[in-house]
This record gives sequence, C-alpha cells and structure tokens, in this order.
Amino acid sequence: MILEKWDTLRERVDGRLNVLLESLNVPSERLYTAMQYVLLSPGKRMRPVLIYLTGKALGIPLQQLDNIACAVECMHAYSLIHDDLPAMDDDDLRRGKPSCHRAFDEATAILAGDALQALAFQQTLQAPLLSAEQKNNMAILLSLSCGAEGMVSGQSMDLLYLENDTFSLKLLEQIHSLKTGVLFETCIRVAIVAAPNAPEALTINLNAFAKYFGLAFQIQDDYLDAYGETKSLGKKQGSDEKQGKKTYVNLYAQEELNELIQTTYRQAKHRLTQSLPATQELIEFTQYLIQRNF
Ligand code: IPE
Ligand code: IPE
Ligand code: MG
Ligand code: MG
Ligand code: MG
Repeated sequence: MILEKWDTLRERVDGRLNVLLESLNVPSERLYTAMQYVLLSPGKRMRPVLIYLTGKALGIPLQQLDNIACAVECMHAYSLIHDDLPAMDDDDLRRGKPSCHRAFDEATAILAGDALQALAFQQTLQAPLLSAEQKNNMAILLSLSCGAEGMVSGQSMDLLYLENDTFSLKLLEQIHSLKTGVLFETCIRVAIVAAPNAPEALTINLNAFAKYFGLAFQIQDDYLDAYGETKSLGKKQGSDEKQGKKTYVNLYAQEELNELIQTTYRQAKHRLTQSLPATQELIEFTQYLIQRNF
C-alpha cells in the first residue's frame, strides 16, 4: 500500500507511535506485545494524516499536533481490535496479519483495546506544546466522538440493526456517521482547536468537508468489502456478507454505488475549493482516496 506524497506524514506519526510505546512502563509483557502488534501494524494512518494536513491548511506547526495524531491513531486501533472480536464482526485478518485476538487471545485483545483507549486520553492531555484549555477541549472532542454519543453507539447499532431486512438508507447513514464519520470530524476539529485564530470561513468549510469525507470513507469501506480484494485490503473480502450484515452494497448496484462514493467525495472536495489555496493539499489527498483499493 502506497500513499505517495503523504508518506512523510505517515512516517511522522509512525515515529511518534514508536517513541510513545518505548516510553511506556507496562508490567504485563503480553499486554504490551499485543499493543505493539496492533499499533505498529501497517495501517493507512489516514486520521493522523488528516490532522496534519488540516494543521497545514491552518498554518500551525505540526509539532503541536503530534500528540493528538498519536491519540487518534490509538483510539482507532482500539476500535479495530474490538471490532474484529468474535462477539462483534468475528474477523481473523486485519492489516494483512492475524487480528489481535487470533495472534494472542480474546482476553488480551479486549485488554489491549482498553489500554489503547486510555492511552489516547493520556496522550491528548500530555501534549507538551498546547495550553491546558486546548488539551481539555481536545479530550472532550475525543470522548464525545468515541464514547456513547458517537462511535460506540454506532458500533452497537451496527450489530443490532444491520442484520435484519428492515434497515433503511437513513439508518445506515446514521450508523456510518456514528461509527466512522465522527472520528474523522474530530480529526479536523482538534486541529482547529490548536489554531484559535483561524479564519471562520475556513473552519466552517473544513468541518463541512469532514462530514462528507467520513461518510464517503465508510461507504467506500462497504464497497471494498464486497468488490475489493483480500490481498490489497489486508482484511477478508466478503466479511459483511458472511456476517449477514446489510450495507450500502445491499442498496445500490455496483456502478451506482461507485457513483455515490465519487459524488460524496466530490461534495467533500467542493467545500475545500471554497478555501483555496490553503486547502490545496487536502483536496489532493481526497482526490487520491477516491481511487483507493486498499
Ligand atoms: C477501517 O479503517 C475501519 C473503518 C472505520 C472504516 P481504515 O480503513 O482507516 O483502517 P486502517 O487503519 O488503514 O487499517
Ligand atoms: C468499523 O466498521 C468501524 C469501527 C471500527 C469503529 P467496519 O466493521 O466496517 O470496519 P472493517 O471493515 O472491519 O475495517
Ligand atoms: Mg464492524
Ligand atoms: Mg469490521
Ligand atoms: Mg467494513
């Protein structure tokens, strides 16, 4: 998987995640090995890249965003570990490797997820270059987007409502926004917290961009689950169907769904074109993702 010109930002967060893990004093070696296994596995690092690119658009030094970029990746990693558990999606493959509970065991996977979630807040609150108010606001954004009002409800509704035939487009949109969209929105918002003097028009456009981007990303995830390949995805193709889970794939024919993904990404990009030239790189990044097959 190649992310071309965004590799430097991916390497940046990878470097920080390595340093973070090395700095921890974890008495349980098994737990530590599991955290390392997941956090350093080859994910796309889209969320940290989005945080950094938003920071660039807002003209703030990237060092101010290092901790929150790690925090969001820790939060995301935890959500993937739990998402793969037998009680949830029961997936054996993640990022091209056995998922955490397969490589270790279920209890270790649950605990590694717990630990990564706590670590996300620790990272946020220990950011060295931000004011107490900024760190506080970032922690609140993170907890709102990933707790019961956000991701966790999305995951719960995903499991409860997508297995029967009464699901609707409206419900699916809500679930996608909760389980995936809100964390992407948070990536934009935390960067804005670090830039208190940013022009209002720019922040409005960035927030609107994030909404469409997150939705497009999850619709595309559904598309790739059905029409992508295990090798490039690093996770098992056809998992949703195997689980009897209804997704956008059940509502649209392949070509129509492809169109919908393109249109939703275009709507995201459109918001950014209103704030050029600051948003040029974010536009290129979005354009790049439209064609992703990974
Ligand atoms: C997968 O996220 C889960 C979703 C929320 C769609 P990513 O596609 O960003 O997964 P990684 O981090 O690259 O493995
Ligand atoms: C996962 O959605 C959303 C979260 C982990 C919060 P999916 O279940 O579709 O993600 P994949 O396809 O397993 O990566
Ligand atoms: Mg899931
Ligand atoms: Mg899943
Ligand atoms: Mg999926």
